[in-house]
Amino acid sequence: MDLNAVRLERAKWMTWKNIAPLREALEHLSSIETTAELGNTVKLHTTEKVDIDELEHIARLMMPWRKGPFDLFGLIIDTEWRSDIKYNFLRPHFNLHNKKVADIGCNNGYYMFRFLEDNPEKVVGFDPSALFKSQFDLINHYVKSDIVYELLGVEHLPFYEEKFDVIFCLGVLYHRSDPVAMLKALAKGLEDGGEIYLDTFIIDGDEPYALCPGESYSKITNVYFVPTLKALENWCNRAGFSSFEVLGSVLTTSDEQRKTDWIESQSLEDFLDPADSSKTCEGYPAPKRGYVRIKKG
Ligand SMILES: C[S@@+](CC[C@H](N)C(=O)[O-])C[C@H]1O[C@@H](n2cnc3c(N)ncnc32)[C@H](O)[C@@H]1O
Repeated sequence: MDLNAVRLERAKWMTWKNIAPLREALEHLSSIETTAELGNTVKLHTTEKVDIDELEHIARLMMPWRKGPFDLFGLIIDTEWRSDIKYNFLRPHFNLHNKKVADIGCNNGYYMFRFLEDNPEKVVGFDPSALFKSQFDLINHYVKSDIVYELLGVEHLPFYEEKFDVIFCLGVLYHRSDPVAMLKALAKGLEDGGEIYLDTFIIDGDEPYALCPGESYSKITNVYFVPTLKALENWCNRAGFSSFEVLGSVLTTSDEQRKTDWIESQSLEDFLDPADSSKTCEGYPAPKRGYVRIKKG
């Protein structure tokens, strides 16, 4: 596959009618001296003057903001997800110092900004969303990092010019209609001896079964398979991984995912059965995530 041809084609997404005004606004951001504080909230500081109303206007053009939170010189972007909860769950398990790192399905780059605290050699994000890339570009205009954001998907990883020591692929697997093919693509993107951190919706059970939702799961229409951990392990084995470690499983709560005024749409409370929060509104088990580390050899 000619990735440069894909990149050229996707660069045209920036001219779409909903994206072009965002790109125009990004072009006119002022250049100021900043420092970034990479804590649970990715915070930007400056001693220079910033027009916060103008910044808020630009950030709001980029709604919905799903992953965060961010604090841009006092402008708090209270995102739908408290992504620090997932990050802090995984944090004790990895060290990215001098590593080449990929974040597949990186959204606006919240985790990638946090990775910088480890001084990785390189960080590359893959996400085929012109909106989320624009959010990334807004934050990174001020962070001024060397993070590379590719408007590519997991399916492009086998053809990528480099391989990675550590790959994160969080919250993507259940969106793929062929999960084993996705895991094989991840395996091809990994350096020998490398490791992958993955999370996905799971169901409870010891048997190797997967839930196949009808129209939607938790009102998300593009969820195809929700496996037990055993089924996930079998998929990983079939994709060529020989090591499969379960790091834990966590029920999604309204502390982690909730409606804020940085999204227009519904959130977790609208996705669960109002009479029984252990079920989705479709009657499936409520969202629970399994976190695993997988390796090839
Ligand atoms: C549920 S979000 C997960 C975001 C983040 N990784 C996290 O765990 O919070 C799924 C992300 O996958 C991205 N995505 C969609 N299609 C993709 C593809 N083919 N390859 C990689 N990412 C994709 C979406 O744009 C979105 O940002």
